Amino acid sequence: MQGSAVAHPNVALVKYWGKRKAAGNLPAAGSLSLTLGRLSTRTTVRLDSAAGEDRLNLNGRENRRDLGRVRDCLAPLRERAGNADAAAVESINDFPTGAGLASSASGMAALALSAAAALGVDHDRELVARAAMAGSGSAPRSLFGGVVALSINEAGEWRCRSLLGPDEWPLKVAVAVTDGGAKALDSRSAMERTRRSSPFYSAWLRGQDADLDDACRAVEQRDFEQLSELSERNCLKMHAAAMSARPPALYFNGATVECIHRIRALARAGSPVFFTVDAGPQVKAVCLPEALDEVTGALRQTPGVLRVLTAELGAGARLA
Ligand code: DP6
Repeated sequence: MQGSAVAHPNVALVKYWGKRKAAGNLPAAGSLSLTLGRLSTRTTVRLDSAAGEDRLNLNGRENRRDLGRVRDCLAPLRERAGNADAAAVESINDFPTGAGLASSASGMAALALSAAAALGVDHDRELVARAAMAGSGSAPRSLFGGVVALSINEAGEWRCRSLLGPDEWPLKVAVAVTDGGAKALDSRSAMERTRRSSPFYSAWLRGQDADLDDACRAVEQRDFEQLSELSERNCLKMHAAAMSARPPALYFNGATVECIHRIRALARAGSPVFFTVDAGPQVKAVCLPEALDEVTGALRQTPGVLRVLTAELGAGARLA
């Protein structure tokens, strides 16, 4: 009664920012992301009928704060398996946790798959995706490798799939870490605040279907320029909506903005690179392989950058 899985974080190019009202954890619109190899979350779930309650150990420490989300993720799996045994979850990230590096995505993807294995229902990949979604709206994307699209229709039916496998487009990602601590404002509260109070939220949502369609087309045609333009704009739109919430959700620090300018300067000079920023101060530069050295060099020299991690596209979550 035990399962282990590994999953990689993902970086969104078309962002998920806002949930459907009264629809569990269902995002209001689709999204598109890159699954990052190298950085990973490893999770083991042990079922124990004698234990009174679920427990989570994250990076070697007892964690009560995220237990609610763990239970949300386990609920559909428990229901299908007809097994309500308490779960002891042990999870380790080999990258900064809760700092805008999508640790909730890799965490909930690894949890859904390992718990499904412990409960004997991991053959049902749709159920695993539903469990991942219940834990975190960005997590189903980490179940898949390469470039991943999550699309949702009017009726709220959704589907997550890989558009290109990790070896089908050699994109590289450099992550400029500008703050090593956990973020002050989690994405769940910030997106809800944006939905409730930003005057730009409805405009943000209205543009999402078209952005996702255009991004899927750019990926299928491997059109780096199109994808660059679209991703940068989608990122800034998301942050504009967040910044205009009441009170504002401002994730950028000075170094975040400096990195964005450096990346734009490299692109203007002809390098195939663009930026994106999720719910934290880290900047992700997505580039073609020939630009990686130049991009990491420029980010390392940017004042306020603590370190630069690099990754290529990675595989989807798997049992370990
Ligand atoms: C900015 O998936 O962390 O990274 O569903 O509440 O767990 P919950 O939110 P989460 O939000 C991710 C926000 C984002 C954009 C993205 O990954 O698409």
